[in-house]
Amino acid sequence: MKTAVYPGSFDPITNGHLDIIERASNVFDEVIVLVLVNPNKQGLFSIEERVELIKRVVKDKKNVKVQCSSELLVNFMKTVNANIIIKGLRAVSDFEYEFQMALMNNKLDPNVETVFMMTNAQYSFLSSSSVKQVAIFGGCIQGLVPDEIIWDIMEKIKQKY
Ligand code: PNS
Repeated sequence: MKTAVYPGSFDPITNGHLDIIERASNVFDEVIVLVLVNPNKQGLFSIEERVELIKRVVKDKKNVKVQCSSELLVNFMKTVNANIIIKGLRAVSDFEYEFQMALMNNKLDPNVETVFMMTNAQYSFLSSSSVKQVAIFGGCIQGLVPDEIIWDIMEKIKQKY
């Protein structure tokens, strides 16, 4: 069985992430969406809340699991016996950052391969950060994130800002 791990901050999951999850789940036997800590980003949702939101959104996808970890990605990969990392690429600007991470992960564990999927063109402008910014300033986030989680984002922003 070929398992791929799709890691990220997912703070929160967007329709761009969901598109990558759906496409990856058509290619691999099993996809684990892995919520990880990015020490360079301050979170809106806790890691556990992000997992709960993603689980809600992917509940009908039989070969998609959602987990979180506070360890190195390559160490987590060993615990689930996986060696493929899935990453989405939106634009040239993503490339340098993703290239660096792919090489670092491969250096940490040469058995690990990163497979890049190009974003669907309709989501190429979309990021969790821009969704949060639109929501904070009262804009409409419909169509940017799954409908099931819009209320949670708006409530969290009301509490925090
Ligand atoms: O969605 P993001 O914030 O671009 O995802 C980055 C993430 C969380 C995948 C990255 O920060 C990560 O892998 N964190 C776990 C720690 C780790 O393994 N770092 C090594 C790669 S530099």
